[in-house]
Amino acid sequence: MAEPLWTEDTSAAFRDLAHYAVPERELQVETILSLIPQPEGAALAMEICCGAGGLTAAMLERLADLRVLALDGSPSMLKATRAAAGGHAARLDTALIDIAETGWRRPPEPLHAVVSSLAIHHLDGLQKQRLFADIHAALRPGGVFVMADLVEPATAVGRAVAADAWDEETRRRALDIDGTLEGYERFVAEDWNYYRLPGPDPLDKPSSVTDLLDWLRAAGFDGVDLHWMKAGHVIMSGVRG
Ligand SMILES: C[S@@+](CC[C@H](N)C(=O)[O-])C[C@H]1O[C@@H](n2cnc3c(N)ncnc32)[C@H](O)[C@@H]1O
Repeated sequence: MAEPLWTEDTSAAFRDLAHYAVPERELQVETILSLIPQPEGAALAMEICCGAGGLTAAMLERLADLRVLALDGSPSMLKATRAAAGGHAARLDTALIDIAETGWRRPPEPLHAVVSSLAIHHLDGLQKQRLFADIHAALRPGGVFVMADLVEPATAVGRAVAADAWDEETRRRALDIDGTLEGYERFVAEDWNYYRLPGPDPLDKPSSVTDLLDWLRAAGFDGVDLHWMKAGHVIMSGVRG
């Protein structure tokens, strides 16, 4: 069997670097939350590849009637997510998944929302299209899918712009958070800037903004839109009509 591309060491490295390396993380979380309607009564949301659980915890905190099913392929990430939920843990379920498999895409009830941050780019284009169709089928009418992710620039110049912007944003965050450049220097030393790498990469397979928007519409979503973009990172959403 092939070795997994994302390991528990990668999870630990991501948890260390994410504060610095995720552009405008706080604004991203606020933007995602603002796209999820307040549920009328009990409702279930699913987070695909929840990582350390910051977004799941924010949903539980902000949306009082919402239960969250948080999924990830990393046991240590699921443990961190349960810890992040704190006093809201009674409204949280977690499960270990492989994002490329399909069994987990049939949730126990129609979903109010599906969210994912920085994970769907681990799938190739065809897998993303199948995933979008499965998410559409899993949502209840009026349910929303919000995706934050990396995108593939259309040109080499666009790639260089994204690379510079990501370095600059990580530098700024390291200084803001710690008052030193140490976090940024680790981001550089660990080759975390996807847009600086020659590619193709077996783990990271971002698609273009236009493909993603087209595939969301083709999967049946209404109101498909791009809400935020910075340094090669985007937030998009669509609604099941
Ligand atoms: C870049 S991190 C993003 C985590 C979190 N969503 C965030 O925004 O901070 C990617 C996440 O995807 C998970 N992951 C990677 N490959 C996976 C796979 N094949 N199946 C399920 N989860 C996977 C990792 O464990 C990790 O939590």
